[in-house]
Amino acid sequence: MTKQRARPPARAELDPVEIASRDEIAALQLERLRWSLRHAFDNVPHYRQSFERAGVHPDELRHLDDLARFPFTTKEDLRRNYPFGMFAVPREAIVRIHASSGTTGKPTVVGYTQKDIDIWSDLMARSIRAAGGRPGDIVHVAYGYGLFTGGLGAHYGAERLGCTVIPMSGGQTEKQVQLIADFKPDIIMVTPSYSLAIADEFERQGLDPAKSSLSVGIFGAEPWTNQMRAEIERRMGLDAIDIYGLSEVMGPGVACECIETKDGLVIWEDYFYPEIIDPATGEVKPDGESGELVFTSLTKEALPIIRYRTRDLTRLLPPTARSFRRMDKITGRSDDMLIIRGVNVFPSQIEEILLGDPRLSPHYVLELRKEGPLDHLTVKVELRADLLNASESEKAAIGQDLERHIKALAGVSAAASIVDPGSIERSLGKAKRVLDFRPRD
Ligand code: DLL
Repeated sequence: MTKQRARPPARAELDPVEIASRDEIAALQLERLRWSLRHAFDNVPHYRQSFERAGVHPDELRHLDDLARFPFTTKEDLRRNYPFGMFAVPREAIVRIHASSGTTGKPTVVGYTQKDIDIWSDLMARSIRAAGGRPGDIVHVAYGYGLFTGGLGAHYGAERLGCTVIPMSGGQTEKQVQLIADFKPDIIMVTPSYSLAIADEFERQGLDPAKSSLSVGIFGAEPWTNQMRAEIERRMGLDAIDIYGLSEVMGPGVACECIETKDGLVIWEDYFYPEIIDPATGEVKPDGESGELVFTSLTKEALPIIRYRTRDLTRLLPPTARSFRRMDKITGRSDDMLIIRGVNVFPSQIEEILLGDPRLSPHYVLELRKEGPLDHLTVKVELRADLLNASESEKAAIGQDLERHIKALAGVSAAASIVDPGSIERSLGKAKRVLDFRPRD
């Protein structure tokens, strides 16, 4: 079948603010920021105390830059106020709760008023349109539904845009393929890692994933490199668009790439004010410099979030396809950084190297062990499906090449473990790339 190629929206289809002047955007941000700080201070004891401790008051915000004087909010603050202590409205005004699983301890709980849900739906609709989606498109949602914000966030946005939504959720990979083959969706919304498991399943069923009806994939919820984008586009025959978000700030749709440029994620700056800070000192960095991304919500009623430290590492870039600033692809999270014999390395650096070798697949995990006093990294990666019958000596040679590349490009010594296609567990949502077997002390 021939695919419908997605096209960028015409200017008339955009929200006027997407192409407003920077001065207009700044004026809107200042007005909304004042409201948001005041709302948090008046209604959330945590914010009143933290502002007072820092000796600042919402009335002191005269310019956008004054925000730097206000204290940060962290995941710990949300945990300490578990479950509903950060809400700025009575519980009865909350129409929805989501929660992030959290690997240890209590989940992080977030809440929404009806107005918050409406804005989230609008921003997800704006994101899907930026990705090339149009009213009338069929959207297959394979992000998980439930407490995770991915499924329902995508769902409400696609409905808001006027699309036909298939609320498939994650898992049941055979059925994913059947529904894509039968319902012929235009767009898939899914984590990049799970999209590859779906592509594998297409092939297992004797179907070519590149020939499906899908013309756009809207991928997020986990870090992925531009090399991974190229791989997904090649295998699935679609435009792969990056979407970013986090529960504490809203959910998916805080920022999204535009199909006409694919040059980083446009931040919906009329609703979220971004800053980049030095993660060690908390100092605000100028646009263009890398650091930790910090967000302040400008309109959220139920859970105003002031200077939230996302732990995600990126940099701010000037506007291109829209009037809003962009953020570069997330290179990693500050808490994902591996320190191997004193050298810092992010999983994304290893991913880039793996995908540079046509004999290796994008299915990999990084295993950390302690050997004596030192941390030891093993990169376990599958061969491509067409190399299923590779001999042990061929595998050993591929492994040696990989070890050499990792040493040369990432500067660390790692052991390569080249395994057969299909032997690494597939994620149904966010991939777990790092398995840490080091003893806890
Ligand atoms: O993952 C929301 C989401 C759902 C975004 C679907 C996009 C698509 P959380 O579960 O709270 O929310 O996880 C948020 O995931 O701080 C990043 O570390 C990571 N993340 C999300 N999107 C991207 C992306 C959702 N496009 C955390 N690139 C964030 C890299 C991402 N990392």
